Amino acid sequence: MIFWRVKSLDAILATAEKKSLHRSLGVWQLTLLGIGAIIGTGIFVLTAEAAQKAGPGMMVSFVIASFVCTVAALCYSELSSMVPVSGSAYTYSYAVLGELVAWLVGWALMLEYSVAASAVAVGWSGYFVGLLDHSMGIKLPFGLVNGPFAGGIINLPAVFICLLVIALLVIGTRESARFNAVLVAIKIMALTLFIALTLPVINLDNFEPFLPLGETGVIAAASSIFFAYVGFDAVSTAAEETKNPQRNVPLGLISSLAICTVFYLLISMGAIGAIGAQPVLDASGRNLVPGSLALAEHCQSLMAVGQQPLVCSREALALVLREIGWEKIGNLLGLTAFLALPSVILMMLFGQTRIFFVMSRDGLLPEVLSRIHPRFKTPHIVTYVTGLGVTLAAAFLPVGKLADISNSGTLFAFMVVACAVMILRVKDRQRERPFRAPIIWLVGPLAVMGCIMLFLFLPADAKLVFPIWSGIGLMFYFLYGYRKSHVALGIDTPSGGEDVISPVRPLVNQDREGRQ
Ligand code: ALA
Repeated sequence: MIFWRVKSLDAILATAEKKSLHRSLGVWQLTLLGIGAIIGTGIFVLTAEAAQKAGPGMMVSFVIASFVCTVAALCYSELSSMVPVSGSAYTYSYAVLGELVAWLVGWALMLEYSVAASAVAVGWSGYFVGLLDHSMGIKLPFGLVNGPFAGGIINLPAVFICLLVIALLVIGTRESARFNAVLVAIKIMALTLFIALTLPVINLDNFEPFLPLGETGVIAAASSIFFAYVGFDAVSTAAEETKNPQRNVPLGLISSLAICTVFYLLISMGAIGAIGAQPVLDASGRNLVPGSLALAEHCQSLMAVGQQPLVCSREALALVLREIGWEKIGNLLGLTAFLALPSVILMMLFGQTRIFFVMSRDGLLPEVLSRIHPRFKTPHIVTYVTGLGVTLAAAFLPVGKLADISNSGTLFAFMVVACAVMILRVKDRQRERPFRAPIIWLVGPLAVMGCIMLFLFLPADAKLVFPIWSGIGLMFYFLYGYRKSHVALGIDTPSGGEDVISPVRPLVNQDREGRQ
């Protein structure tokens, strides 16, 4: 039975111990790694989508999404402290729930990482186009910078940034911890400036009505804005390179999430207070769906008469600053997004290729995918395959839809992690737990229920993608992985993936000591 095809936790740990990755990351670097992966398109762009769904009530949406992520992060922390190896939720599930669930989780993680990379690329495109327009007066043709859902043909800047990141990954670029720290510092400075400039001009009238679309709108917005917090699990994937991972990984996870939550709340408060965040309704007073052609057309007609509602913007935060008279700082914030978002794409794609790689080495995906480039020593085939999908999605789909689809896969993976923690508490009581999630019988069920609730409030199409995607995954598994699985065939494979992928070339310079 496939549920009994479990990788032994002890074997995974033994393999991890044999590895020679130098443990150089401390809690501070991990927190920066987390913030680097978390702050991206979600806050820079999707604030507009959240406002269209919830109005000023999106502040509550940020709190709800943060709460679900926090309880999920506590579960992640417990597992990552017990099993400090790479492979994230996929590896944990293999050890606890068996091969079939692990496969489904790995398959869902493709939605998380790949589709998120596409979403961030589309978000980047919005800032790139705005920056060219506002700082140099260059207007790119509408049809070539917008996909069909926004009334255009193809989003070429998004295609360009995807191709660039894929090329970097193939030649072996991985963001160095120091470069990440610089980007995080830039993001934090820009967002702090945003808060400092918007909070003093808050107009309390802009918070009325607070819930124009009711509580349902608030939860629907939380389901979408959940995307803004995704990425904290990147911290757990660095467990093998972390000093004292048992202590530092949970601390890194929780602190990066906490810092981002505070920022997001202050930013949404500033944006709402400064220029208002009421949704745009159609002539009959109905809410227009974010990412729809109807909303895009309505927005174009509003902009034609000089109105600039927050919900219509593709560069929401820059718009707020420009509207309150800080044109140049708005452009600077646009420049920050332009510089920083590609690193989020890089991290997402990196995570994706490594998970694919590990699955392929476990025999669940064709071995050709784990082939290493003879010169660059990177899993180039898997990078091309992933890159093709990511680029196509970024070319034609709107950012909000992509984020929602990505969320559906992420919510599933988080839910499984929470279940795995609870199961292990019963099945494997004696195992050492350097970090124990507090009150697990409350935290675990809350994480599971939170994920289910957010999933149910996703738009119908995003909800539909997940079962279809999982169905395709199951077919693939039974046609291929079920027979080829190394666990089933008794072939011993290492649990991580990075020990054979080297050298890794950091984006700027070598600063993770010990990496070859
Ligand atoms: N949380 C990341 C972002 O918002 C994925 O871009």
